[in-house]
Amino acid sequence: MAISTYQSQLSDSVALMSNILGVAVAELIECRDENTGGHVIRTSRYVELLARDLVANGRYEFELNEESLEMMVRAAPLHDIGKISISDKILLKPGRLTDEEFGIMKGHAALGASILKHMHARTPTQDYLKFASMIAASHHERFDGKGYPYGLQKEQIPLCGRIMAVADVYDALVEDRIYRPAMPHDQACSIILEGEGTQFDPGILDSFSRCHHEFAVIVKSHKEAKDRAAAEAARLCAAPRETHGGNGASSQESRGGNGAAG
Ligand SMILES: [Fe+2]
Repeated sequence: MAISTYQSQLSDSVALMSNILGVAVAELIECRDENTGGHVIRTSRYVELLARDLVANGRYEFELNEESLEMMVRAAPLHDIGKISISDKILLKPGRLTDEEFGIMKGHAALGASILKHMHARTPTQDYLKFASMIAASHHERFDGKGYPYGLQKEQIPLCGRIMAVADVYDALVEDRIYRPAMPHDQACSIILEGEGTQFDPGILDSFSRCHHEFAVIVKSHKEAKDRAAAEAARLCAAPRETHGGNGASSQESRGGNGAAG
């Protein structure tokens, strides 16, 4: 095998491994909050839909091309990695957060950006981590400058953060949250479109208006997959225990003479 081919394959393998590890870390953090299951994967798919539509329509062509699009999609699952620092008491609180709690929660954006910046410094070939850091820092900024952590406005907010903001809010609205039930797709779309020029970039909402039906398809397929998994789990719980070995004792029962776990 030619050295250049080997190097290319090695580079692809490292990129794939980095991607898998990144998503795994994001999902581990997400696991702490049962109400957000699948959020990191769905939001990266929404980011891809929006970014592909923007590319197809020649919007933001100085910032957005096939290469940066791919980086954004890889980076998107890591947007909330800073939530690792938020206590369960705040993260899982069923009611409204106090001002102090909300202040702590807001810290996840800057902390996530810092974690990802350090990860990128250690693995400089993984350029998607640069996008991940930008997305983590800016996905709660608002187009009118009233967001956090820095109060950036309009084009001061990186494009990847402006795209992520729409994806993140849409998913939060259409999924159950510990403090409220899921909202129908049409109602979520109305709320998002009302944010034109205030919370969200109007150019990205043009794109959202064109492809929101595909968002609904993603929501539906994830819900169906979740229902299937729940039904399978219920079936396994209801099924009689299999027995192993000639004496009919289960592996749990056979640990030690007195039945205690070993
Ligand atoms: Fe966030």
